[in-house]
Amino acid sequence: MTTLTGVETAIRLVYLVAAVGFVLGLHFMRSPATARRGNTLSWIGMALAVAVTPFYLTSVPGTSLDIKPIVWIVIGIGSAVGAAGGLFSARLVKMTDMPQLVSVFNAVGGGAAALVAVVEFMRMFGDSGDMRLDFSIPVGLDILIGSVTFTGSLIAAGKLQGWVSGNPIIFPGARVLAGISAAAGIGGVAWLAVAPGWLPFIVLTVGALAFGVLLVLPIGGADMPVVVSLLNAFTGLAVAMAGFVVENPILIIAGALVGASGSILTKLMADAMNRSILAIMVGGFGTTDSGGGAIAAGGGSTRLVSADDVAVMLAYADKVIIVPGYGLAAAQAQREAGDLGKLLEEHGKTVYYAIHPVAGRMPGHMNVLLAEADVPYEMLKEMDEVNGDFDTCDVALVVGANDVTNPAARRSGNPISGMPILNVDHAKSIVVIKRSLGFGYAGLDNELYTNPKTGMFLADAKKGLTALITGVKEYL
Ligand code: TAP
Repeated sequence: MTTLTGVETAIRLVYLVAAVGFVLGLHFMRSPATARRGNTLSWIGMALAVAVTPFYLTSVPGTSLDIKPIVWIVIGIGSAVGAAGGLFSARLVKMTDMPQLVSVFNAVGGGAAALVAVVEFMRMFGDSGDMRLDFSIPVGLDILIGSVTFTGSLIAAGKLQGWVSGNPIIFPGARVLAGISAAAGIGGVAWLAVAPGWLPFIVLTVGALAFGVLLVLPIGGADMPVVVSLLNAFTGLAVAMAGFVVENPILIIAGALVGASGSILTKLMADAMNRSILAIMVGGFGTTDSGGGAIAAGGGSTRLVSADDVAVMLAYADKVIIVPGYGLAAAQAQREAGDLGKLLEEHGKTVYYAIHPVAGRMPGHMNVLLAEADVPYEMLKEMDEVNGDFDTCDVALVVGANDVTNPAARRSGNPISGMPILNVDHAKSIVVIKRSLGFGYAGLDNELYTNPKTGMFLADAKKGLTALITGVKEYL
Protein backbone atom coordinates (compact mmCIF):
# COMPACT_ATOMS: atom_id res chain seq x y z
CA MET A 1 0.00 0.00 0.00
CA THR A 2 1.41 3.38 -0.94
CA THR A 3 1.30 6.15 1.60
CA LEU A 4 0.27 9.56 0.34
CA THR A 5 2.22 12.63 1.32
CA GLY A 6 0.42 15.58 2.84
CA VAL A 7 0.46 17.45 -0.48
CA GLU A 8 -0.91 14.43 -2.36
CA THR A 9 -3.69 13.98 0.18
CA ALA A 10 -4.61 17.67 -0.08
CA ILE A 11 -4.67 17.45 -3.89
CA ARG A 12 -6.94 14.43 -3.82
CA LEU A 13 -9.29 16.16 -1.41
CA VAL A 14 -9.49 19.18 -3.71
CA TYR A 15 -10.18 16.83 -6.62
CA LEU A 16 -12.97 15.28 -4.58
CA VAL A 17 -14.49 18.70 -3.91
CA ALA A 18 -14.18 19.53 -7.64
CA ALA A 19 -15.91 16.27 -8.56
CA VAL A 20 -18.75 17.01 -6.15
CA GLY A 21 -19.01 20.46 -7.80
CA PHE A 22 -19.35 18.82 -11.23
CA VAL A 23 -22.00 16.36 -10.10
CA LEU A 24 -24.07 18.94 -8.23
CA GLY A 25 -23.56 21.40 -11.09
CA LEU A 26 -25.03 18.92 -13.54
CA HIS A 27 -27.86 18.18 -11.16
CA PHE A 28 -28.79 21.88 -10.92
CA MET A 29 -28.62 22.26 -14.68
CA ARG A 30 -31.68 20.02 -14.98
CA SER A 31 -33.97 23.02 -14.57
CA PRO A 32 -33.69 26.54 -16.01
CA ALA A 33 -34.54 27.91 -12.57
CA THR A 34 -31.38 26.44 -11.01
CA ALA A 35 -29.16 26.27 -14.10
CA ARG A 36 -27.13 29.37 -13.19
CA ARG A 37 -26.30 27.87 -9.81
CA GLY A 38 -25.29 24.67 -11.57
CA ASN A 39 -23.04 26.59 -13.93
CA THR A 40 -21.37 28.41 -11.05
CA LEU A 41 -20.75 25.19 -9.11
CA SER A 42 -19.31 23.53 -12.20
CA TRP A 43 -16.91 26.32 -13.04
CA ILE A 44 -15.75 26.58 -9.43
CA GLY A 45 -15.08 22.83 -9.51
CA MET A 46 -13.17 23.16 -12.76
CA ALA A 47 -11.17 26.16 -11.49
CA LEU A 48 -10.17 24.18 -8.39
CA ALA A 49 -9.19 21.17 -10.48
CA VAL A 50 -7.08 23.29 -12.83
CA ALA A 51 -5.49 25.21 -9.95
CA VAL A 52 -4.21 22.12 -8.14
CA THR A 53 -3.11 20.24 -11.25
CA PRO A 54 0.38 21.82 -11.41
CA PHE A 55 0.87 20.63 -7.80
CA TYR A 56 -0.34 17.19 -8.85
CA LEU A 57 2.08 17.09 -11.76
CA THR A 58 5.04 18.32 -9.75
CA SER A 59 4.28 15.94 -6.88
CA VAL A 60 4.49 12.84 -9.09
CA PRO A 61 7.19 10.68 -7.48
CA GLY A 62 10.41 10.93 -9.42
CA THR A 63 9.68 14.37 -10.90
CA SER A 64 13.07 16.03 -10.95
CA LEU A 65 13.41 19.44 -9.37
CA ASP A 66 14.69 20.86 -12.67
CA ILE A 67 11.43 20.36 -14.51
CA LYS A 68 9.17 21.82 -11.83
CA PRO A 69 9.58 25.42 -13.02
CA ILE A 70 8.95 24.24 -16.59
CA VAL A 71 5.70 22.56 -15.51
CA TRP A 72 4.55 25.80 -13.92
CA ILE A 73 5.55 27.90 -16.94
CA VAL A 74 3.87 25.56 -19.44
CA ILE A 75 0.68 25.36 -17.39
CA GLY A 76 0.73 29.13 -16.81
CA ILE A 77 1.03 29.90 -20.52
CA GLY A 78 -1.49 27.21 -21.48
CA SER A 79 -4.03 28.43 -18.94
CA ALA A 80 -3.58 32.08 -19.97
CA VAL A 81 -4.00 31.31 -23.67
CA GLY A 82 -6.95 28.98 -23.01
CA ALA A 83 -8.68 31.41 -20.65
CA ALA A 84 -8.19 34.32 -23.08
CA GLY A 85 -9.61 32.23 -25.94
CA GLY A 86 -12.57 31.12 -23.81
CA LEU A 87 -13.31 34.64 -22.62
CA PHE A 88 -12.97 36.07 -26.11
CA SER A 89 -15.32 33.51 -27.65
CA ALA A 90 -17.87 33.67 -24.84
CA ARG A 91 -18.08 37.45 -25.15
CA LEU A 92 -17.81 37.91 -28.90
CA VAL A 93 -19.46 34.93 -30.53
CA LYS A 94 -23.09 35.59 -31.35
CA MET A 95 -25.75 33.44 -29.69
CA THR A 96 -26.71 32.12 -33.12
CA ASP A 97 -23.13 30.97 -33.75
CA MET A 98 -22.83 29.00 -30.50
CA PRO A 99 -23.22 25.55 -32.12
CA GLN A 100 -20.11 26.17 -34.24
CA LEU A 101 -18.27 27.29 -31.13
CA VAL A 102 -19.35 24.19 -29.20
CA SER A 103 -18.17 22.11 -32.13
CA VAL A 104 -14.77 23.83 -32.14
CA PHE A 105 -14.55 23.26 -28.36
CA ASN A 106 -15.28 19.57 -28.97
CA ALA A 107 -12.49 19.47 -31.55
CA VAL A 108 -10.08 21.10 -29.12
CA GLY A 109 -11.12 18.76 -26.27
CA GLY A 110 -10.91 15.60 -28.37
CA GLY A 111 -7.67 16.69 -30.01
CA ALA A 112 -6.05 17.54 -26.67
CA ALA A 113 -7.10 14.20 -25.19
CA ALA A 114 -5.67 12.36 -28.22
CA LEU A 115 -2.41 14.32 -27.95
CA VAL A 116 -2.05 13.26 -24.31
CA ALA A 117 -2.16 9.63 -25.45
CA VAL A 118 0.20 10.27 -28.36
CA VAL A 119 2.77 11.89 -26.05
CA GLU A 120 2.43 9.11 -23.48
CA PHE A 121 2.82 6.48 -26.19
CA MET A 122 5.97 8.14 -27.48
CA ARG A 123 7.34 8.44 -23.96
CA MET A 124 6.55 4.88 -22.88
CA PHE A 125 7.15 3.03 -26.10
CA GLY A 126 10.02 5.28 -27.13
CA ASP A 127 11.79 4.61 -23.81
CA SER A 128 11.29 0.90 -23.41
CA GLY A 129 10.11 -0.41 -26.78
CA ASP A 130 7.17 -2.03 -25.03
CA MET A 131 3.96 -1.17 -23.23
CA ARG A 132 1.80 -2.88 -20.65
CA LEU A 133 -1.66 -4.00 -21.76
CA ASP A 134 -3.42 -1.92 -19.10
CA PHE A 135 -1.66 1.10 -20.58
CA SER A 136 -1.85 0.34 -24.29
CA ILE A 137 -5.65 -0.18 -24.25
CA PRO A 138 -6.54 3.28 -22.86
CA VAL A 139 -3.84 4.84 -25.06
CA GLY A 140 -5.37 3.21 -28.15
CA LEU A 141 -8.94 4.11 -27.21
CA ASP A 142 -7.93 7.67 -26.36
CA ILE A 143 -6.24 8.15 -29.74
CA LEU A 144 -9.20 6.55 -31.54
CA ILE A 145 -12.00 8.51 -29.88
CA GLY A 146 -10.04 11.77 -29.58
CA SER A 147 -8.96 11.76 -33.22
CA VAL A 148 -12.44 10.93 -34.57
CA THR A 149 -13.82 13.73 -32.41
CA PHE A 150 -11.14 16.16 -33.56
CA THR A 151 -11.65 15.86 -37.31
CA GLY A 152 -15.39 15.14 -37.07
CA SER A 153 -15.97 18.25 -34.98
CA LEU A 154 -13.95 20.43 -37.34
CA ILE A 155 -16.09 19.28 -40.27
CA ALA A 156 -19.28 19.78 -38.21
CA ALA A 157 -18.18 23.32 -37.28
CA GLY A 158 -17.36 24.02 -40.95
CA LYS A 159 -20.82 22.82 -41.99
CA LEU A 160 -22.56 24.92 -39.38
CA GLN A 161 -20.51 27.96 -40.31
CA GLY A 162 -21.17 27.41 -44.02
CA TRP A 163 -17.50 26.84 -44.92
CA VAL A 164 -18.29 23.23 -45.78
CA SER A 165 -21.53 22.52 -47.66
CA GLY A 166 -24.40 21.70 -45.30
CA ASN A 167 -25.65 19.21 -47.89
CA PRO A 168 -24.64 15.58 -47.49
CA ILE A 169 -21.30 15.14 -49.24
CA ILE A 170 -21.17 11.65 -50.67
CA PHE A 171 -18.63 10.78 -53.37
CA PRO A 172 -18.15 7.42 -55.11
CA GLY A 173 -16.58 4.96 -52.71
CA ALA A 174 -17.15 7.23 -49.69
CA ARG A 175 -18.86 4.54 -47.66
CA VAL A 176 -16.23 1.94 -48.50
CA LEU A 177 -13.51 4.39 -47.47
CA ALA A 178 -15.40 5.17 -44.26
CA GLY A 179 -15.64 1.43 -43.56
CA ILE A 180 -11.93 0.93 -44.21
CA SER A 181 -10.93 3.86 -42.01
CA ALA A 182 -13.24 2.69 -39.20
CA ALA A 183 -11.73 -0.80 -39.45
CA ALA A 184 -8.23 0.69 -39.41
CA GLY A 185 -9.03 2.74 -36.32
CA ILE A 186 -10.71 -0.05 -34.35
CA GLY A 187 -8.31 -2.71 -35.62
CA GLY A 188 -5.42 -0.38 -34.81
CA VAL A 189 -6.51 -0.23 -31.15
CA ALA A 190 -6.51 -4.03 -30.91
CA TRP A 191 -3.20 -4.30 -32.77
CA LEU A 192 -1.56 -1.67 -30.56
CA ALA A 193 -2.82 -3.50 -27.48
CA VAL A 194 -1.40 -6.91 -28.39
CA ALA A 195 1.69 -5.81 -30.30
CA PRO A 196 2.64 -2.23 -29.46
CA GLY A 197 4.62 -0.59 -32.22
CA TRP A 198 4.89 2.39 -34.53
CA LEU A 199 2.98 0.74 -37.39
CA PRO A 200 -0.21 0.02 -35.41
CA PHE A 201 0.11 3.49 -33.89
CA ILE A 202 0.18 5.09 -37.36
CA VAL A 203 -2.61 2.87 -38.76
CA LEU A 204 -4.78 3.71 -35.75
CA THR A 205 -4.13 7.46 -35.85
CA VAL A 206 -4.53 7.92 -39.60
CA GLY A 207 -7.59 5.64 -39.68
CA ALA A 208 -9.28 7.50 -36.82
CA LEU A 209 -8.55 10.97 -38.24
CA ALA A 210 -9.89 9.92 -41.65
CA PHE A 211 -12.94 8.26 -40.12
CA GLY A 212 -13.90 11.48 -38.31
CA VAL A 213 -14.01 13.32 -41.64
CA LEU A 214 -15.81 10.55 -43.53
CA LEU A 215 -18.32 10.10 -40.71
CA VAL A 216 -19.54 13.69 -40.70
CA LEU A 217 -19.24 14.66 -44.39
CA PRO A 218 -22.30 12.65 -45.53
CA ILE A 219 -24.50 14.00 -42.75
CA GLY A 220 -26.77 16.89 -43.70
CA GLY A 221 -26.92 20.15 -41.81
CA ALA A 222 -30.34 19.44 -40.32
CA ASP A 223 -28.94 16.49 -38.39
CA MET A 224 -25.90 18.45 -37.22
CA PRO A 225 -27.24 19.18 -33.71
CA VAL A 226 -27.40 15.47 -32.96
CA VAL A 227 -23.92 14.99 -34.41
CA VAL A 228 -22.43 17.87 -32.39
CA SER A 229 -24.00 16.49 -29.25
CA LEU A 230 -22.67 13.00 -29.99
CA LEU A 231 -19.20 14.36 -30.66
CA ASN A 232 -19.46 16.18 -27.35
CA ALA A 233 -20.09 12.83 -25.65
CA PHE A 234 -17.09 11.41 -27.55
CA THR A 235 -14.95 14.27 -26.21
CA GLY A 236 -15.92 13.24 -22.70
CA LEU A 237 -14.99 9.61 -23.36
CA ALA A 238 -11.66 10.65 -24.88
CA VAL A 239 -10.91 12.82 -21.84
CA ALA A 240 -11.80 9.95 -19.49
CA MET A 241 -9.41 7.69 -21.44
CA ALA A 242 -6.73 10.38 -21.14
CA GLY A 243 -7.40 10.27 -17.38
CA PHE A 244 -6.63 6.54 -17.35
CA VAL A 245 -3.51 7.13 -19.43
CA VAL A 246 -2.04 9.76 -17.09
CA GLU A 247 -3.73 8.27 -14.01
CA ASN A 248 -5.52 11.47 -13.14
CA PRO A 249 -8.81 10.84 -11.30
CA ILE A 250 -10.41 14.20 -12.00
CA LEU A 251 -9.99 13.75 -15.76
CA ILE A 252 -11.66 10.36 -15.49
CA ILE A 253 -14.56 11.78 -13.49
CA ALA A 254 -15.06 14.92 -15.62
CA GLY A 255 -14.73 12.91 -18.84
CA ALA A 256 -17.18 10.26 -17.70
CA LEU A 257 -19.72 12.92 -16.70
CA VAL A 258 -19.44 14.68 -20.08
CA GLY A 259 -19.63 11.34 -21.88
CA ALA A 260 -22.71 10.22 -19.98
CA SER A 261 -24.60 13.52 -20.04
CA GLY A 262 -23.67 14.08 -23.70
CA SER A 263 -25.00 10.64 -24.60
CA ILE A 264 -28.29 11.32 -22.82
CA LEU A 265 -28.62 14.70 -24.55
CA THR A 266 -27.88 13.08 -27.91
CA LYS A 267 -30.63 10.54 -27.37
CA LEU A 268 -33.12 13.22 -26.30
CA MET A 269 -32.29 15.38 -29.31
CA ALA A 270 -32.45 12.49 -31.74
CA ASP A 271 -35.88 11.61 -30.33
CA ALA A 272 -36.96 15.26 -30.61
CA MET A 273 -36.00 15.26 -34.30
CA ASN A 274 -37.28 11.72 -34.79
CA ARG A 275 -33.90 10.56 -35.99
CA SER A 276 -32.25 7.31 -35.00
CA ILE A 277 -28.68 8.00 -33.88
CA LEU A 278 -27.44 4.92 -35.68
CA ALA A 279 -29.18 5.87 -38.91
CA ILE A 280 -27.62 9.33 -38.74
CA MET A 281 -24.14 8.00 -38.10
CA VAL A 282 -24.05 5.20 -40.64
CA GLY A 283 -24.81 7.20 -43.64
CA GLY A 284 -26.38 10.55 -43.31
CA PHE A 285 -29.93 9.35 -43.48
CA GLY A 286 -32.59 11.84 -42.66
CA THR A 287 -30.65 14.68 -44.20
CA THR A 288 -33.12 17.41 -44.57
CA ASP A 289 -31.65 20.53 -45.96
CA SER A 290 -31.61 19.84 -49.66
CA GLY A 291 -35.10 21.15 -50.11
CA GLY A 292 -35.69 18.14 -52.28
CA GLY A 293 -39.15 16.62 -52.08
CA ALA A 294 -40.68 19.82 -50.79
CA ILE A 295 -44.13 19.33 -49.49
CA ALA A 296 -47.20 20.21 -51.43
CA ALA A 297 -48.52 22.91 -49.19
CA GLY A 298 -52.07 22.30 -50.23
CA GLY A 299 -51.84 24.95 -52.88
CA GLY A 300 -53.47 27.51 -50.64
CA SER A 301 -52.57 31.16 -50.55
CA THR A 302 -51.18 33.15 -47.70
CA ARG A 303 -52.90 36.02 -45.91
CA LEU A 304 -50.79 39.01 -44.96
CA VAL A 305 -51.59 40.98 -41.82
CA SER A 306 -50.31 44.27 -40.42
CA ALA A 307 -48.99 45.14 -36.96
CA ASP A 308 -52.27 46.85 -36.24
CA ASP A 309 -54.31 43.75 -37.13
CA VAL A 310 -52.19 41.59 -34.85
CA ALA A 311 -52.29 44.14 -32.01
CA VAL A 312 -56.11 44.03 -32.07
CA MET A 313 -56.09 40.23 -32.02
CA LEU A 314 -53.74 40.19 -29.05
CA ALA A 315 -55.66 42.87 -27.20
CA TYR A 316 -58.86 40.81 -27.41
CA ALA A 317 -57.28 37.42 -26.71
CA ASP A 318 -57.50 35.65 -23.36
CA LYS A 319 -54.78 33.13 -23.95
CA VAL A 320 -51.68 33.73 -26.07
CA ILE A 321 -48.85 31.31 -26.78
CA ILE A 322 -45.64 32.80 -28.12
CA VAL A 323 -43.56 30.36 -30.18
CA PRO A 324 -39.95 31.50 -30.50
CA GLY A 325 -37.64 30.06 -33.13
CA TYR A 326 -34.29 30.63 -34.75
CA GLY A 327 -35.42 33.96 -36.30
CA LEU A 328 -35.99 35.39 -32.82
CA ALA A 329 -32.40 34.55 -31.93
CA ALA A 330 -31.08 35.90 -35.23
CA ALA A 331 -32.92 39.19 -34.67
CA GLN A 332 -31.88 39.28 -30.97
CA ALA A 333 -35.54 39.94 -30.21
CA GLN A 334 -35.72 38.09 -26.89
CA ARG A 335 -36.21 41.25 -24.84
CA GLU A 336 -39.08 42.42 -27.05
CA ALA A 337 -40.65 38.95 -26.85
CA GLY A 338 -40.35 39.13 -23.06
CA ASP A 339 -41.77 42.65 -22.92
CA LEU A 340 -44.77 41.74 -25.08
CA GLY A 341 -45.56 38.71 -22.89
CA LYS A 342 -45.24 40.81 -19.75
CA LEU A 343 -47.51 43.52 -21.15
CA LEU A 344 -50.19 41.00 -22.08
CA GLU A 345 -49.93 39.24 -18.74
CA GLU A 346 -50.24 42.51 -16.85
CA HIS A 347 -53.57 42.95 -18.61
CA GLY A 348 -54.90 39.65 -17.33
CA LYS A 349 -54.09 37.39 -20.27
CA THR A 350 -52.61 33.95 -19.91
CA VAL A 351 -49.28 33.90 -21.74
CA TYR A 352 -46.93 30.99 -22.35
CA TYR A 353 -43.78 30.58 -24.38
CA ALA A 354 -43.77 27.23 -26.18
CA ILE A 355 -40.31 25.72 -26.30
CA HIS A 356 -39.53 23.06 -28.90
CA PRO A 357 -36.45 21.00 -27.99
CA VAL A 358 -34.66 21.84 -31.24
CA ALA A 359 -36.01 25.34 -31.87
CA GLY A 360 -33.07 27.52 -32.80
CA ARG A 361 -29.66 26.11 -33.48
CA MET A 362 -28.57 24.44 -30.27
CA PRO A 363 -30.06 22.57 -27.33
CA GLY A 364 -31.78 24.92 -24.94
CA HIS A 365 -31.28 27.88 -27.30
CA MET A 366 -34.72 29.40 -26.63
CA ASN A 367 -34.57 28.81 -22.86
CA VAL A 368 -31.25 30.61 -22.67
CA LEU A 369 -32.43 33.57 -24.72
CA LEU A 370 -35.68 34.01 -22.83
CA ALA A 371 -33.94 33.61 -19.46
CA GLU A 372 -31.59 36.38 -20.61
CA ALA A 373 -34.67 38.56 -21.13
CA ASP A 374 -35.92 37.73 -17.61
CA VAL A 375 -38.98 35.83 -18.78
CA PRO A 376 -40.23 33.96 -15.68
CA TYR A 377 -39.53 30.23 -15.91
CA GLU A 378 -43.16 29.40 -15.15
CA MET A 379 -44.12 30.99 -18.47
CA LEU A 380 -41.78 28.70 -20.43
CA LYS A 381 -43.46 25.43 -21.36
CA GLU A 382 -41.74 22.53 -23.05
CA MET A 383 -43.34 21.00 -26.14
CA ASP A 384 -45.04 18.03 -24.46
CA GLU A 385 -46.36 20.22 -21.69
CA VAL A 386 -47.72 22.98 -23.93
CA ASN A 387 -49.06 21.07 -26.91
CA GLY A 388 -52.45 20.46 -25.29
CA ASP A 389 -52.77 24.20 -24.59
CA PHE A 390 -52.92 25.18 -28.25
CA ASP A 391 -56.50 23.81 -28.50
CA THR A 392 -57.69 26.51 -26.09
CA CYS A 393 -55.35 29.24 -27.25
CA ASP A 394 -56.79 32.35 -28.91
CA VAL A 395 -53.61 33.49 -30.64
CA ALA A 396 -50.46 31.48 -31.32
CA LEU A 397 -47.78 34.05 -32.11
CA VAL A 398 -44.92 32.37 -33.98
CA VAL A 399 -41.77 34.49 -33.93
CA GLY A 400 -39.08 33.37 -36.37
CA ALA A 401 -39.92 29.68 -35.97
CA ASN A 402 -40.58 27.54 -39.00
CA ASP A 403 -39.72 23.82 -39.12
CA VAL A 404 -40.79 23.19 -35.54
CA THR A 405 -44.31 24.31 -36.46
CA ASN A 406 -44.65 22.59 -39.85
CA PRO A 407 -47.66 20.20 -39.85
CA ALA A 408 -46.06 18.30 -42.74
CA ALA A 409 -43.98 16.53 -40.08
CA ARG A 410 -47.10 14.54 -39.20
CA ARG A 411 -47.15 12.94 -42.66
CA SER A 412 -44.74 10.43 -44.09
CA GLY A 413 -42.64 10.95 -47.18
CA ASN A 414 -40.88 14.21 -46.45
CA PRO A 415 -37.60 15.05 -44.78
CA ILE A 416 -39.09 16.13 -41.44
CA SER A 417 -41.61 13.26 -41.26
CA GLY A 418 -42.08 12.08 -37.72
CA MET A 419 -40.36 15.05 -36.09
CA PRO A 420 -42.56 16.06 -33.16
CA ILE A 421 -43.86 19.59 -33.69
CA LEU A 422 -45.64 22.26 -31.71
CA ASN A 423 -49.40 22.01 -32.36
CA VAL A 424 -49.59 25.65 -33.44
CA ASP A 425 -52.22 24.80 -36.07
CA HIS A 426 -54.64 23.80 -33.28
CA ALA A 427 -54.86 27.42 -32.06
CA LYS A 428 -57.97 29.46 -32.86
CA SER A 429 -55.86 31.95 -34.77
CA ILE A 430 -52.23 32.02 -35.75
CA VAL A 431 -49.82 34.84 -36.51
CA VAL A 432 -46.37 34.21 -37.95
CA ILE A 433 -43.71 36.91 -37.75
CA LYS A 434 -40.88 36.37 -40.23
CA ARG A 435 -39.28 38.43 -42.95
CA SER A 436 -40.46 36.51 -46.01
CA LEU A 437 -42.33 33.41 -47.07
CA GLY A 438 -38.99 31.63 -47.36
CA PHE A 439 -37.91 28.29 -45.92
CA GLY A 440 -36.57 27.37 -42.50
CA TYR A 441 -33.58 25.18 -41.78
CA ALA A 442 -34.96 22.05 -43.44
CA GLY A 443 -35.63 23.91 -46.71
CA LEU A 444 -39.32 23.05 -46.88
CA ASP A 445 -42.55 24.89 -47.54
CA ASN A 446 -44.50 25.31 -44.34
CA GLU A 447 -48.16 24.51 -44.85
CA LEU A 448 -49.00 26.40 -41.67
CA TYR A 449 -48.58 29.57 -43.74
CA THR A 450 -51.43 28.65 -46.06
CA ASN A 451 -53.74 27.63 -43.23
CA PRO A 452 -56.82 29.90 -43.40
CA LYS A 453 -56.39 30.65 -39.68
CA THR A 454 -52.89 32.03 -40.25
CA GLY A 455 -51.95 35.66 -40.79
CA MET A 456 -48.41 36.32 -41.99
CA PHE A 457 -46.87 39.43 -40.47
CA LEU A 458 -43.79 39.92 -42.64
CA ALA A 459 -41.22 41.74 -40.55
CA ASP A 460 -37.93 41.37 -38.79
CA ALA A 461 -38.70 39.79 -35.40
CA LYS A 462 -37.34 42.69 -33.36
CA LYS A 463 -39.06 45.40 -35.38
CA GLY A 464 -42.29 43.40 -35.64
CA LEU A 465 -42.48 42.77 -31.89
CA THR A 466 -41.68 46.41 -31.13
CA ALA A 467 -44.54 47.48 -33.40
CA LEU A 468 -46.85 45.00 -31.65
CA ILE A 469 -45.93 46.33 -28.21
CA THR A 470 -46.77 49.87 -29.35
CA GLY A 471 -49.99 48.69 -30.99
CA VAL A 472 -51.17 46.56 -28.05
CA LYS A 473 -50.55 49.47 -25.65
CA GLU A 474 -52.94 51.55 -27.74
CA TYR A 475 -55.72 49.01 -27.56
CA LEU A 476 -55.37 47.94 -23.93
P1 TAP B 1 -36.09 27.47 -38.78
O1 TAP B 1 -36.91 26.35 -39.26
O2 TAP B 1 -34.68 27.52 -39.15
O3 TAP B 1 -36.80 28.81 -39.24
C1 TAP B 1 -36.35 30.05 -38.80
C2 TAP B 1 -37.14 31.11 -39.54
O4 TAP B 1 -36.74 32.34 -38.97
C3 TAP B 1 -36.83 31.18 -41.01
O5 TAP B 1 -37.87 30.63 -41.78
C4 TAP B 1 -36.61 32.68 -41.28
O6 TAP B 1 -37.56 33.13 -42.24
C5 TAP B 1 -36.91 33.32 -39.95
N1 TAP B 1 -36.00 34.43 -39.65
C6 TAP B 1 -34.66 34.49 -39.84
N2 TAP B 1 -34.19 35.67 -39.44
C7 TAP B 1 -35.26 36.38 -38.99
C8 TAP B 1 -35.41 37.67 -38.45
N3 TAP B 1 -34.38 38.51 -38.30
N4 TAP B 1 -36.65 38.07 -38.08
C9 TAP B 1 -37.71 37.25 -38.24
N5 TAP B 1 -37.62 36.00 -38.75
C10 TAP B 1 -36.40 35.58 -39.12
O7 TAP B 1 -36.14 27.60 -37.19
P2 TAP B 1 -36.88 26.75 -36.08
O8 TAP B 1 -38.33 26.64 -36.34
O9 TAP B 1 -36.41 27.32 -34.80
O10 TAP B 1 -36.36 25.29 -36.29
C11 TAP B 1 -35.07 24.93 -35.96
C12 TAP B 1 -34.48 24.16 -37.12
O11 TAP B 1 -33.08 24.14 -36.95
C13 TAP B 1 -34.92 22.73 -37.16
O12 TAP B 1 -34.96 22.27 -38.48
C14 TAP B 1 -33.84 22.01 -36.39
O13 TAP B 1 -33.72 20.66 -36.72
C15 TAP B 1 -32.64 22.79 -36.85
N6 TAP B 1 -31.53 22.80 -35.92
C16 TAP B 1 -31.78 22.83 -34.61
C17 TAP B 1 -30.73 22.83 -33.73
C18 TAP B 1 -31.03 22.83 -32.28
S1 TAP B 1 -30.34 21.79 -31.32
N7 TAP B 1 -31.86 23.67 -31.78
C19 TAP B 1 -29.43 22.89 -34.22
C20 TAP B 1 -29.20 22.92 -35.62
C21 TAP B 1 -30.28 22.86 -36.44
P3 TAP B 1 -37.26 34.47 -43.07
O14 TAP B 1 -35.95 34.27 -43.69
O15 TAP B 1 -38.41 34.53 -44.00
O16 TAP B 1 -37.27 35.60 -42.07
